[in-house]
Amino acid sequence: MHDAYIKVARTDDIQPGKMKRVEIAGCPVLVAQVNGDYYAVADTCTHEDASLSTGSLKGELVKCPLHGSRFNVITGEVLEEPAEENLKTYALRIDGDYIFVENPNARQS
Ligand code: FES
Repeated sequence: MHDAYIKVARTDDIQPGKMKRVEIAGCPVLVAQVNGDYYAVADTCTHEDASLSTGSLKGELVKCPLHGSRFNVITGEVLEEPAEENLKTYALRIDGDYIFVENPNARQS
């Protein structure tokens, strides 16, 4: 049995327009704040093994630091090659001062 949501950060750990990599049960997840809302997607680029949280965030678009693919952090959609696969998105909840993200392992079981 896995908890459905895991506490990953305080809301003020991630300022507007910023992102942070967190790990949920071994899964790297990127949490970003865009226009006052928080979103969670897989942190690993779908092209190769790059951590998107070390790239740059402009509006809702994150740019991969390795070869420049862009993804929408709200929808997970890939917008620029060489990556071709969308990112997984994760449900996210705010409770008080904390951000909770859906446990990817709970989804599989
Ligand atoms: S690893 Fe991200 S675009 Fe190549």
